[in-house]
Amino acid sequence: MKKPWFADAVVYQIYPMSFQDSNHDGIGDLNGIKQRLDYVDQLGANFIWLNPIYKSPNADNGYDISDYCAIQPAYGTLADFDSLLAAANRLNIGIMMDLVVNHTSEQHPWFLASKKNRNNPYADYYIWRDPVDGHAPNDWLGVFQGSAWTYVPERDQYYLHSFASAQPDLNWQNPAVRAEVRSIMKFWLDRGVRGFRMDAIDFPAKPKWSNEGQTFTNVGDAMPDLKRLNRYLQEINQQVLANYDRILTVGEMSTADPATAAEFSNLDGSELNMVFEFEHVDLAANKDKRIGKWSSDSVSVKDLKRVLSKWQVGLDGKGWNSLYWNNHDQPRAVSRFATDDPKWRVKAAKMLGTTLHLLQGTPYVYEGEEIGMTNAHLKTLQQYEDLDSLNAYHELVDEKHLVSGPQMLEYLAARSRDNARTPMQWNSESNAGFTDAQPWYALNPNYDQINVAESLSDPTSVFHYYQQLIQLRHANEVVKYGNYLELDPDDGECFAYVRQLESRRLLVISNFTENQIERDYGQNQGTRLIGNYDDDLGVSIRPYECKVYELNN
Ligand code: NOJ
Repeated sequence: MKKPWFADAVVYQIYPMSFQDSNHDGIGDLNGIKQRLDYVDQLGANFIWLNPIYKSPNADNGYDISDYCAIQPAYGTLADFDSLLAAANRLNIGIMMDLVVNHTSEQHPWFLASKKNRNNPYADYYIWRDPVDGHAPNDWLGVFQGSAWTYVPERDQYYLHSFASAQPDLNWQNPAVRAEVRSIMKFWLDRGVRGFRMDAIDFPAKPKWSNEGQTFTNVGDAMPDLKRLNRYLQEINQQVLANYDRILTVGEMSTADPATAAEFSNLDGSELNMVFEFEHVDLAANKDKRIGKWSSDSVSVKDLKRVLSKWQVGLDGKGWNSLYWNNHDQPRAVSRFATDDPKWRVKAAKMLGTTLHLLQGTPYVYEGEEIGMTNAHLKTLQQYEDLDSLNAYHELVDEKHLVSGPQMLEYLAARSRDNARTPMQWNSESNAGFTDAQPWYALNPNYDQINVAESLSDPTSVFHYYQQLIQLRHANEVVKYGNYLELDPDDGECFAYVRQLESRRLLVISNFTENQIERDYGQNQGTRLIGNYDDDLGVSIRPYECKVYELNN
């Protein structure tokens, strides 16, 4: 198989607002990240993906950018950024920026100019359409609820926003817009960044406008025009990335399936290195389409196996997987895919880590996952901050009466992005060592138990286990390049698979339940490389136990 240069990458994701405050304002910042670089290095990650740090009115916590070449003042300055980058480079950690270019902020100067009239240099930077019978041009709904169109009287037109109305979509069919994107990328690459996570990168390729007038429940259902997306990505590749060495690229693509993802992440490197697929995190979506992703159902192990296996097999030898359980848009892994019951939390977090890190692809570790941070278990609407969660509550409960208030609170507790956004838990002191001021968002009260200081001091912690998983990937060619074979797809309790490279084989066994189960995959003939129990009972697999073997035949 082709051996991509990035097969060794492990990415640590930092949500800057919630990572580490250094200047006593309750908000995380760049100097705070710099102070914690040794921690990331100690974990063994060699890339950091920073969620957006650009100037932004923060309607969507930085995903609404008003200046792509300036740092959000609460996070610091460009000089602070350069200093962070230099410190990261010294540790051989590459910094990846979040490239949010499907849309800008409504406060971006391009949009302020564009909305003034139909004849100005920025008039075609966004997607404007005339009203149809006095209404929006079609029935598209934005991802964050409500119509995807907002009317602007100055132009007597509507603009398209796939997300919130504060996030107008750029018009990528305009070559000037694509040139702007390229120059933003060059600006950061010339400073020394080593990668981009491309936000909602399937959205710029809008469907052909012949679809206009059709009804879609969600603007995402109508996207993308894949051929157009291929062209856009190739253009970026040829005109920007080709001029730099080893720039890691991952495209967030909620609409991708394995076949299209294989094209976008083809191993020739002509488009992206990898994509973020959504299938495994969308599994428990509500059956009632009108309610969308909101649900409190847990994901069945069989479904999870089916989807992860489909992607492993679908991309093998053709493209590259990115591997993640959670990020700033998803609830905490251990609460969602296993259990955060204190009795099992540590075992369960290690089991999930093993299941994921032994797959083919690039693992992403979201801040706090490596110490087994949990959902916040919020109870009241007032405790939420995220616009997606608040909009959904108002629309589904107050306006459409599709869900009762208590039911929606259950959905939010299970699914809200705020679960991932509570500040990082560094120690058991006041505000968990995140800040010595009033934190911008309440901490998860369990920080007195679950925190980095405790994890570092305990050799059996989730942190030290993740460290070993990452070392294993760096050192073991089968983990990096081996192909994938699922065992017993119908087993709803145990997830077992084999990775194989030439004659070398690894066997991975994970028990997703609280029960002891018996399974014989030939592990008794293997040598155990890593596991989350001290000893090994062979064919008996204890609650949330995981173990990895090198098979000897
Ligand atoms: C995906 C990002 O991950 C999410 O946080 C954001 O709200 C949307 N894209 C819009 O940019």
